[in-house]
Parts: sequence; structure tokens; C-alpha cells
Amino acid sequence: MDIRNEIEALRTELHRHNYNYYVLSQPTISDYDFDQKMRHLQELESRYPEYYDPNSPTQRVGSDISKEFKQVKHRYPMLSLGNTYSKEEVSEFIERTKRFLGEDIEIVCELKFDGTSISLTYEGGRLVRAVTRGDGVQGDDVTDNVKTIRSIPLQLPKGDWPEEMEVRGEVLMPWSVFEQLNKERAEQEEPLFANPRNAASGTLKLQNSSEVAKRHLDSYQYFVIGDGLEEETHYGLLMKAREWGFKVSEALKIAHGVDEVFDYINYWDIERKNLPVATDGIVLKVNSKSQQERLGYTAKSPRWAIAYKFQAERACTRLNSVSFQVGRTGKITPVANLDAVQLSGTVVKRASLHNADIIKSLDLHIGDMVYVEKGGEIIPKIVGVDTSVRVLLGDVVRFPSRCPECGATLVRNEDEAAHYCPNETACPPQIKGKIEHFVSRKAMNINIGEEGVDLLYQHEILHDVADLYTLREEDLIRLERWGAKSARNLIESVEESKKVPFDRVLFALGIRYVGETVAKKLAGAMQSIDRLKEVRYEELLLVEEIGEKIAQSVENWFQDEANLRLVERLRSAGLQMEKQQTETGEKLKNLSFVISGTFDRHSREELKALIEQNGGKNSTSVSSKTDYLLAGHNMGPSKLEKAGQLGIKIIGEEDFEQMIGSGQAD
Ligand code: IVH
Repeated sequence: MDIRNEIEALRTELHRHNYNYYVLSQPTISDYDFDQKMRHLQELESRYPEYYDPNSPTQRVGSDISKEFKQVKHRYPMLSLGNTYSKEEVSEFIERTKRFLGEDIEIVCELKFDGTSISLTYEGGRLVRAVTRGDGVQGDDVTDNVKTIRSIPLQLPKGDWPEEMEVRGEVLMPWSVFEQLNKERAEQEEPLFANPRNAASGTLKLQNSSEVAKRHLDSYQYFVIGDGLEEETHYGLLMKAREWGFKVSEALKIAHGVDEVFDYINYWDIERKNLPVATDGIVLKVNSKSQQERLGYTAKSPRWAIAYKFQAERACTRLNSVSFQVGRTGKITPVANLDAVQLSGTVVKRASLHNADIIKSLDLHIGDMVYVEKGGEIIPKIVGVDTSVRVLLGDVVRFPSRCPECGATLVRNEDEAAHYCPNETACPPQIKGKIEHFVSRKAMNINIGEEGVDLLYQHEILHDVADLYTLREEDLIRLERWGAKSARNLIESVEESKKVPFDRVLFALGIRYVGETVAKKLAGAMQSIDRLKEVRYEELLLVEEIGEKIAQSVENWFQDEANLRLVERLRSAGLQMEKQQTETGEKLKNLSFVISGTFDRHSREELKALIEQNGGKNSTSVSSKTDYLLAGHNMGPSKLEKAGQLGIKIIGEEDFEQMIGSGQAD
């Protein structure tokens, strides 16, 4: 391949990875491989300047702009950091910097947090704006979402902070939250987040800040800019920031030379595994502000800082077979079965192979020695093949064209990487999966369990979810492992499920992309299943949080005759097929409410509607006429203070739910 073609091919490939990473939040290669390719392109471009292209992936820092948020231009551009995987280059950086300055330097060593960066503007000690990095020049105004992050101060306590300043840091999703979130998404067969970084940036872009609040994001700050900051060192500034109430990592350290820097790297390469949040390297910054000024910036990054990135841990092991699992929605998930191998302290026997494209690009053969990596991901993945040790070439791994469970021809939708089995009504794992979803706690909450579903399906007692409502005790007790008591429990819990409100029934139906939240929105907007049957794509799009993909899926579902028959059977069984109207509308009669802050279970709009439905009034400011202040997270201190002074009752979300008698049903 000639040089020009090589450059073009690399650009095309990197554009694609950039899109996967920033737009889809679903990267398909490791950061390490991405960085290597980017570096290779940078080298080629500097060697062959005649092929310069202003739109090359090397010319931008990446973009995460989405259209729904207001765009804000950064007062100071948000740059990225030069990075390296080699300790030798770290030494070179230190030597080069000292040589340039002609004097010794102090280096601040910090952890490189693996989340999404944020710029916080404070005026008069109050948080006025929070903006994502975007393309470095302008980003999305995500202030409302950021206000839900409790480690970010909304109002600084009295102190010597300047009138106006910008504090920058990283928004993170702690491992524990990430694991729980993915567990829930797996149960709903929603796509999993690949790592906490994608989960954090995806969360910051949610349109509903009360959803953001539920995700319990965290944040560390590592940079302060503004006029009138008197500290002469970066370290001093961060200590000030900590004093002002910002969360600054405890892992900060001043190093005086290469050896101390290496000690820091070696220590944290191990110790970082005990941290509650993800880190992917360390950042080295020249401590003195005046030295920083002399060093200045390149177009993309400061010359006074560098990031050293940790290699993702990888292991090499044998690929024994590949299984293709079929999920509730018919989605086919390829899983590699491996010789057991130790990786980051756990034994790995299975790894994800994602989709057909990835399998093809790896050119996998059974018996191959494969590299398994656990980067920022929980599920290990295969990142490459060691072709040098291939002795015998085993069978090539091919993505099947037919469903391994029922034999139907698989389909692949445009714009989607996954293959699906379309045989929704007769493919066993799909039927069982749909029943399991239907009975799950957050859906109909029927007490049967996975094994129970399997048994009843095998005995041809259950063919679909509607069969649950014709179960008879005598049919159950005839089965092995079913006593009279468990049979009765099941029948009772089926009976009880008839009281489950309409939004959960809608969620239980298992319409693709209709998770719990979407089901709530749809139920609220459409009120009944009959309305949903009639409503068309365009009208669905008008509902809050319903995008094209969801609208299409809902329309398709309700156009399928088999689904409509199922709905009718469920309706005759007595399930709730419309939203219950609030009965009295009198519970809050003549009471005046002020809502402040964010809430775990309702958006502010929902709360306002509930107040009105129950005969109450909403007001925006606290006065002597206010009866209740409904206080959420991160509420402004002035309202709280005023309510205190006027002796107004302050209540939380739960108190409010009790007042209107709408506690959680489960
Ligand atoms: S300093 C002008 N310090 O890494 C330099 N960045 O490409 C400003 N990051 O976008 C960045 N931990 O999101 C700095 N301790 C740390 C960091 C850090 C993580 C992220 C940040 C930045 C990216 C660098």
C-alpha cells in the first residue's frame, strides 16, 4: 500500500472508532490500540506534510456534543493531555522540561481518573454553570444534571475564593454503581455500558436530572483557573480548592525527580485496584505556575503536563469453543469459552466476543491462543490472536446464519451491530425469557423464579405470559418439586399481580427498548393500552424521552396481531390496562407547595402534576402563604433558610408520597 492510501485508511478507521466511542459510547477496540493507531497516523502526517487534511482525526480532541443541550463556549479551551505508555518517555519529558527551563522542577503526581471531564464555573461562590468538554472549544450545558452530584459544591462556604473562577475535574461513576446499573440493564436486556467512563458520560447526557440523581455519580477536581488566584503553585491551588469544599484526591504528591515519579507510578499501578472509582493512569504536572507559563501550550495540550497510562491487564489463553446465546429479545450474544486463566485477580473462563464484525476482524479459529483483556470493563473481552503460535489451524469461527436454538434465519437491522432471531413466538429461550421478564419484581412481581418458569414451560403448561392467569393448583401439584404450599403461593401471587398499575404492565410486556422509565412516560402520556394501539410513530415522538428507535419499536409491537391477541387475553384475565385516575383530588386541598432540589423517584414536573391533581397549589418562592417546602437533594440554601425563619413545614419525597397515599407498591 502506498503512503497516501495508508494514511487515508488509518483516518477512515480512526474516524469510525471516534464515532463508536464518542457518539455511540460503544468502543470496539481498546484505548491502547486506539492510541497506537493515532500515534502512527500522527507520525505519518508529520513525515509527509503534503497529505495534510484539516479534518484528520489528529486535528481534533473528540466531540461529545449532542443537540439537546445548550451549547456553551469555554472561556478557556479545554485541552487534552499528551500521553504515553512508556516510562522512558516519562523520563524524557522530565529531562526535556528541565532543559527548556534551565532549572530544576517540582512535579505534582496525580491519578488520572477515567470518567468524563467537566468545567464548573463559580460566581460569587455559587455554581452557575457546568459544561462538558465537547470539542474542547464548546460543550454541552449540563448544569442541572451536575447539580445532582453531591461531591460538587453548589455554594462555597465563606473563604478567600475569587469572585469568578472555573474549576475542572472528572465526573465518575463508582464501580459499585456501575456494576449494579449493568446488572439491572442485563435483566432488561438493555445494552450494557462497556465501562464506568461511558456510563458516566451517558448519564450526564440524560435529559431528566432526577434519573441522573439515581445514578449516584461522583467527581474529583484537579484544576483551577481564574483571575485573582494568588497561589504560585498548582499544588497550592488544589489545597485551596480542597479548603473551599471541592473534592480533591488524597493521592496527590509532589515528586522531585524521576525516581520519586516512578515510585508513585509503581505504587498506584497496584493500589488503584482498591479505589472505588476507575483510573487509567497518572498525570504529571509541573508545580510552579510561572514555570507552567514559560512552558506554554501546543495546539492541543499543555507542555507542562503529561499522562502516563497504565497498560490494561491482559492474559493469553486457548479458545476452546464459541457459544451463541439467545436472549429474551432474540439478541444473539457470542461468548468465547476459554482455558481458565488468571486475570486481575479473578479466574476467567469466558469472554465476550460482542458481534459478528468483531469476530470477523479477529479472524478467529478454534484452538487459537487469544489475548483477553479487562480494561475499564467488567466483562473480559478478546482483543487479539497470537498467530505466531498457530500450529494447526482449527475451524474458523463463523457467526451462524441460523438461530442455534430454533433454526430461524437470523436478521440484522440496519445501524445495529447485533443479530437477532426473529422467531419471537416459537424460539424457546425467547419465550422463557419473556415470561421471566414478565414475572420479575419490577414488572408483575409474580413469585415463580427462573426454574419454575423453565419447569412449567417444559411441561407445556406455560406457552406465554397469559397462560399464567389460567394456572390451576391441581396442575401444579402434579409436577415434581411442587408442593401444595408453593402451588398456592404462585396462584396467590398471580392473583395479586392483577393490581399492578398500568405502567408496570406495559413494562412487563417486554416491548424492545421500553424499560421502566420509558413505560412510565408512555403510560403517563397515553393513559391506556387502547390509546397505545391507535397512536402512530409521529405522535409517540412527541412524548418526553421517546426517540425514533423506541417510537418505531412501540408502533411495530402494537401492529402485530399476535401481540394484540395477547393483550386481549391479559385484559380478560383482569390486568390493569389503563392508568388509574387519582381518586379524590382533595388530599392537598388549599395547600400551597414550593418544590426545591432534585428527587429520587419523581421529576419535578411529576411532583407538580401530583400536587395539582390532589387539589394543591404550586408556587416558586417561599412566603408566609407557603404551607410546605418539598425538599430534594442539592436544594438552594436560601429557600431552606427562609422556610426555617417562617416556620414552614419542610418535607421530603417520602413524606409527600404518604400525604397523597402513593407509596411504592413493591
Ligand atoms: S489535567 C490542561 N488531571 O484526562 C490539562 N486531567 O486527556 C487538563 N483527567 O480531559 C487536564 N484525571 O478528563 C488532568 N488528574 C487529572 C486528570 C485528568 C483525568 C482526564 C481529563 C482530560 C484527560 C486528558
